[in-house]
Amino acid sequence: MGKRVATAVADASRFALAQAVKVLCAQGGAPMPAYVKVAKSSEIGPGTAKLVEAGSKKIALFNVEGSLHAIDDTCTHRGGPLSEGMLVGNEVTCPWHGAVFDVTTGDVVGPPAPSSVTSYRVRIEDDDVEVEI
Ligand code: FES
Repeated sequence: MGKRVATAVADASRFALAQAVKVLCAQGGAPMPAYVKVAKSSEIGPGTAKLVEAGSKKIALFNVEGSLHAIDDTCTHRGGPLSEGMLVGNEVTCPWHGAVFDVTTGDVVGPPAPSSVTSYRVRIEDDDVEVEI
């Protein structure tokens, strides 16, 4: 008897979950990642950076030897603007207190920042730079 009740409850839970998914899908569901045009590729020469906005996000774009990379602009230490930092190779140094981030991954590689920043996929469509958010 107990096993039957447990099975019935599990079935009801699966049904409720399936219904919730159907409702979410019908309403548009959770926002899907999308590419957003943020700049022209000609605006970001090799070894330079540019601050762009995508939705509500401030994103730093970096050109490392012709390859574009995007990470959050806000340093995880005290909020310094990484797009204003010094770029050497694939590493940017925060202009406020010197934390170092790998612009290809967002990983923090030098103190005092306590954690990495988010990195974003980048693609080029014609001359448009698009970032996936
Ligand atoms: S704000 Fe970036 S190292 Fe302090």
